[in-house]
Amino acid sequence: MCGIVGATGVNQVLPSLLKGLEKLEYRGYDSAGVYVNGGKDGDFLVREKGRVSRLKAATENKHITGTAGIAHTRWATHGGVSVENAHPHMSEDGRFYLVHNGVIENFDELRDNYLQGVKLQSETDTEIAVQLIDKFSKEDNLSTFDALRKMISLLDDNSAYGFLLMDNETPDLMYAAKKKSPLLIGVSDQANVVTSDAAAMLDITQDFIELMDGEVAIIDKEKVTLFDVQGKQIERESFHLDIDASETDKGVYPYYMLKEIDEQVIVAHTLSQHYFDDDANVQNIDDEIIDAIKASDRLYIVAAGTSYHAGLVGKRYFEKWTGIPTEVHISSEFAYDQPLLSQRPFFIFLSQSGETADSREVLDNVVKQGYPSLTIANVMNSTLTREATFALPLLAGPEIAVASTKAYTAQIIVEAILAHAVGNSEVDLKNELAKAAVEMQVIIDQKDKFKIIAEQALKNQSSAFYIGRGLDAAVAVEAALKLKEISYIQTEGFAAGELKHGTISLIEEGTPVLGLVTQSKTAGLVRGEIAQVSARGANTVIIASKSLAKANDAYVLPDVDELLMPLLTVIPAQLIAYYATLDRGLDVDRPRNLAKSVTVQ
Ligand code: G6P
Repeated sequence: MCGIVGATGVNQVLPSLLKGLEKLEYRGYDSAGVYVNGGKDGDFLVREKGRVSRLKAATENKHITGTAGIAHTRWATHGGVSVENAHPHMSEDGRFYLVHNGVIENFDELRDNYLQGVKLQSETDTEIAVQLIDKFSKEDNLSTFDALRKMISLLDDNSAYGFLLMDNETPDLMYAAKKKSPLLIGVSDQANVVTSDAAAMLDITQDFIELMDGEVAIIDKEKVTLFDVQGKQIERESFHLDIDASETDKGVYPYYMLKEIDEQVIVAHTLSQHYFDDDANVQNIDDEIIDAIKASDRLYIVAAGTSYHAGLVGKRYFEKWTGIPTEVHISSEFAYDQPLLSQRPFFIFLSQSGETADSREVLDNVVKQGYPSLTIANVMNSTLTREATFALPLLAGPEIAVASTKAYTAQIIVEAILAHAVGNSEVDLKNELAKAAVEMQVIIDQKDKFKIIAEQALKNQSSAFYIGRGLDAAVAVEAALKLKEISYIQTEGFAAGELKHGTISLIEEGTPVLGLVTQSKTAGLVRGEIAQVSARGANTVIIASKSLAKANDAYVLPDVDELLMPLLTVIPAQLIAYYATLDRGLDVDRPRNLAKSVTVQ
């Protein structure tokens, strides 16, 4: 949550910071702010409620000059959405400026113990941190570096932070510190930067140094100096990131979500090329991973949000192809309510970002208990990929829209390939996935149909249902999440058979019920359940696979292997959500109250 960028050594730094913030908006967009050290022109601090575009407008005509500055886009935790609570926060005397991603759990205790005489401007935990730095630098006569380290030493164990600090007495310097929240230092000949996500600073550099938990860095325009937890200077090589800056642009698309829906086909091809050789044998999955899974007696898939939904699909592949019982768990529940584990558990973490705090909490516990684990993530080098025993990439490219689409289908594909590799299944998976990719394209090319369905079924509706059984029930919960999270239509994804046990009482005249019918074993039952709601006035919309379709179904999906149908079924749901949201005039990519990377518990 929250995005941080900072840069030093950039001729006119403001546009680079604002552009960086735009790329980080997926991390939160309640408010945004920027501090630029203008040297002899003084300090510039601008903060606005709302999106980065408002901040940008507020900086115009202010003649902000300077080569170093820090900026922040916020997802509110402590303190409501207001200009006062927006970052950067400033010390009382206007010397120090701080941006922060994370949560200081003991901030009220620190305030009461140390800052009685200080007139606080905000309700945030972050302001406590910057006022403490100011206090320690004055009263204890500490250097800025030591004052920062002293402040950090007072934070309790549960606190998480990515801090970026500037002191107006040393205009070219930035101080960075990190624990749990991601922070990268970008290096180049002309300028150095700090960012929550490399994608925000690719215009300046593609070379980054990772900052590890507990470390502090001093960054000026020429060099970067790293210090370990004890304050001892350390060296670390930078790594080169092969991302094309254009991959993070919308290009001709009106919204990232539409671009990312379209990209699902190419992602399917990329995964196939990466994970299969020319003879359709699985490659690029270490034998150690396969052996570790084979040695386990139960798989535990742990994830949040859309990734959890991809786990519900993957469970079928692992059970069917490997014969190993598989459980799927929501990470925020598992973290504090761990079920009784089997003798030889193996953990699979699914995550687009690799930074989700709820999942990290579980992984921490798993590592402490000494169990083997694998993270399947889109962002390699993220915390979850680093801290698990093994990691596999999703290769979906940057996913920017808050509503996850291509990461979901990529997760399903990688789960299928992994289960196939472990179980040596008879299925010619490479071929089946290639067929599925072709059919995904066919569906994507029929966007207009989903626009019409969205208008006919969902216009002026405030609630809706997606229902199905088996794999269709797994897709129904993802379909419902897509629709509700961006259109704000309250949507439930339901196992169709369970509807009659209570929830059917919500069906009224015209309530949209979208039925998914792609599994032959249960197709008749689901159609029966659709008839039951239809008899009670529901406006039913049936999406069925070709071999199970009937006249009057709203959309007929091409047939592929039934187990792979979720790759197809989810696409209409994504597009229906997209068009229903457009129809309401809402921001598809940035739904209210949400953030893409949820780094707080
Ligand atoms: C947030 C995002 C979701 C995502 C979930 C898990 O809530 O808005 O789209 O599914 O986090 O994130 P992860 O990065 O672990 O997949």
